[in-house]
Amino acid sequence: MNVLIIGSGGREHAIAWKLKQSSKLNQLFIATGNAGTETLGTNLNINISDFKEVKKAVLEYAIKLVLVGPEVPLVEGIHDFFLADEKLRNIHVIGPQKYAAQLEGSKEFAKEFMQRHNIPTAAYKSFTKENLNEGFDFLETLKSPYVLKADGLAAGKGVIILPNLQEAKDELTDMLTNEKFGEASKTVIIEEFLDGIEMSCFILTDGKNYVNLPNAKDYKRIGEGDKGLNTGGMGAISPVPFADKEYLQKIEERVIKPTVLGLQKDNIPYKGFIFFGLIKVDNEPMVIEYNCRMGDPETEVVIPRIKSDLLELLIATGENNLENAAIEIDERSVVTVMLVSGGYPEAYEKGKVISGVENIEDSLIFHAGTKRNSNGEILTNGGRVIAVTSFRSDYKEALKTSYNSIKNISFDKMNYRKDIGFDL
Ligand code: AMP
Ligand code: GLY
Repeated sequence: MNVLIIGSGGREHAIAWKLKQSSKLNQLFIATGNAGTETLGTNLNINISDFKEVKKAVLEYAIKLVLVGPEVPLVEGIHDFFLADEKLRNIHVIGPQKYAAQLEGSKEFAKEFMQRHNIPTAAYKSFTKENLNEGFDFLETLKSPYVLKADGLAAGKGVIILPNLQEAKDELTDMLTNEKFGEASKTVIIEEFLDGIEMSCFILTDGKNYVNLPNAKDYKRIGEGDKGLNTGGMGAISPVPFADKEYLQKIEERVIKPTVLGLQKDNIPYKGFIFFGLIKVDNEPMVIEYNCRMGDPETEVVIPRIKSDLLELLIATGENNLENAAIEIDERSVVTVMLVSGGYPEAYEKGKVISGVENIEDSLIFHAGTKRNSNGEILTNGGRVIAVTSFRSDYKEALKTSYNSIKNISFDKMNYRKDIGFDL
C-alpha cells in the first residue's frame, strides 16, 4: 500500500520510521517532511492546506491511506474533503472529520462534550465580548490562580494562567475585545484551576473500537525546573512512572470509554488518534484537553514502544475493524530529549549546519525542523530541531543514553533541557 503522511515534524518522522518497517508498505510519501523523512520515503513539497494539491498528489502516486499528523488540516476539514470527492472517497484518512476535530479545535465544544458524557474536567463558563461583565463576575467567584483559554486553535499559546484577579480581568478584556488570538479568542473559557501532575494517554479508534497506545508525559516549558515560556514540548517519557495500574484503570473507565461511547451516542464518526491531556487531582484523572491527533514529542516515545505493525492497525481503523486488533507494547522505557534552536520559543535563526546526527548508535534520531541543502548538509529549519530517543529498562538509564548521544551532536546556539525526568 502507498501511504502519505501529512506533516513535517518529529512526530511525522517517528511515524514514517515505524511505517517503513511494515511488510504492507509499498511506497511512502511525506508532505512536506524534513531531512529525516526523506531517508525513509519521498518528501512532497505541496501546500498541505490546499486540499486540491493534496488530491493531485494522492491520485498521482496512487496513495491509499493518508495519515494526518497536525491538527490544522483536520480542523479545516481535510477528511471531509476526501469524503466529498468521488475519486478520494475510498482512500483511508486517519484523522477525524471537521466536526469531531472540534474536540481540539474548540475548547467550548470539548467542554460541552465532556459535560454531556460525565467525563471529569474542571468547572468552567464561556464568555464572549457581549457578556464580558459576567466574565468579571465569574472570575470573582473563583480562587487564584485564574485559567483563561481561547476557544479556538492558538498554536499552543491560548491558555493563560494568572495569579492576580485584576490581571485576569485585563487579560479577559484583551482576549475578547482586542481578539488577542484573532478568531480563536472570540470566545474564552474561564475554568477552575486544577492542581496536580499531568500526563497524556492516547488511543487509536475507528469510532467504535479502540486500542490503547503507550502513555507519556511531556515537558512543555523551555527552562529547567519547568520554568519559562511554554513550547511545543522539550522532551517526553513513556511509560509514565507514576501511572500505576489502578490509575490507568480509572482513566480507561472514567475517561477513555465514556469518550468513545460519547462519540457514538452523539453520532459523531471518528477515525484516528485521540490524545487525552490529563491531570491527577486527589488520585482521580481529570481531562485538561483533547487533541485530535498524536502529540509531538510524545509520538517520539509512544510509537517506538509499539511492537505491532502500525500500518495494519491503521488499515483496520480505516476499515472499521479495530475490534479484532491486538497491540503489543514494548515494556522498556523510552525517553526523548528535544534539541532546539537558541531563542526558541521566541525568535530564533534557521539554517545552522547540524553535525553528528549520522553517527549516533545508541539512540534513535527523529528530525523535526531540519532540511538538507544542495551539499547534502543537514540544516536547522525550525525551533524544535532534533528529538533524541532512547530505550532502556528504566527511564533514568534511557535519559543517560539520550544525554550521552547528545554530546556528539552540535549546531550553533543549540539548546536543550538537561533535566527531563527530574520531577519523577
Ligand atoms: P492546554 O492547551 O489546554 O493543554 O493547556 C496548556 C497547559 O495549561 C496544560 O498542559 C496545563 O499545564 C495548563 N492548564 C490548562 N488547564 C488547566 C487547569 N484547569 N488547571 C491547571 N492547569 C491547567
Ligand atoms: N506536546 C503537546 C502537543 O503535541 O500538543
